[in-house]
Amino acid sequence: MRIAVVWSSPNLHGLTAAAKDRFCCGLRKAGAEIEEIHMNKLRLEHCQACGNGWGTCASKGTCWKKDDFQETYEKLVNADGIVFVSAVYWHDITECMKAFLDRLRRCETARNHFLAGKRCFLIACAGGTGLGAIECLHNMEETLKHMEMRAYDRIPVIRYNKEYILPALETAGAVYADRMEHGFDMQY
Ligand SMILES: Cc1cc2nc3c(=O)[nH]c(=O)nc-3n(C[C@H](O)[C@H](O)[C@H](O)COP(=O)(O)O)c2cc1C
Repeated sequence: MRIAVVWSSPNLHGLTAAAKDRFCCGLRKAGAEIEEIHMNKLRLEHCQACGNGWGTCASKGTCWKKDDFQETYEKLVNADGIVFVSAVYWHDITECMKAFLDRLRRCETARNHFLAGKRCFLIACAGGTGLGAIECLHNMEETLKHMEMRAYDRIPVIRYNKEYILPALETAGAVYADRMEHGFDMQY
């Protein structure tokens, strides 16, 4: 069982990293093989809306920009499950995760559909007021829905719930890996 864990925060020891680590701990307990993808370490340019709005994303299913996009895309295609963990910035996902998902959505929806049907686990970490965690999860899910990907669950982590949510994320990781391995009765 291969699970890609896509996470974004510049802080290696912050709330987002803690949430990611606890979830990975659960994944590992359930025997999953983990591919961690730290968006902030990658070179990911933003979409330039080539041509009249569509470029090689539509004609070839790839982006012409030579950076870490394509390799990351392939890692997601090869994963059985995908976990997205983002710090909450401006009530939304981080700019690097957004840059990646914007380009991914174009290649997927216009041409490839390689990721359609993948069941994803979404985690948003809002370390400030806590406001915007739900909006961040909503925005993430809307983007995934365009690609016909599905959320298995969505968890907000904030300063005030971390004492009980972080331990729960460990259980969540184990349950998610187990469900990805053995199947489950999710209707949507
Ligand atoms: C540009 C920026 C925007 C932010 N916007 C929000 C926000 O909308 N809501 C919130 O609760 N925290 C916000 N924060 C705080 C982050 O969510 C906080 O840094 C959080 O701990 C992210 O996880 P980290 O510890 O991995 O950095 C923002 C931080 C930055 C740098």
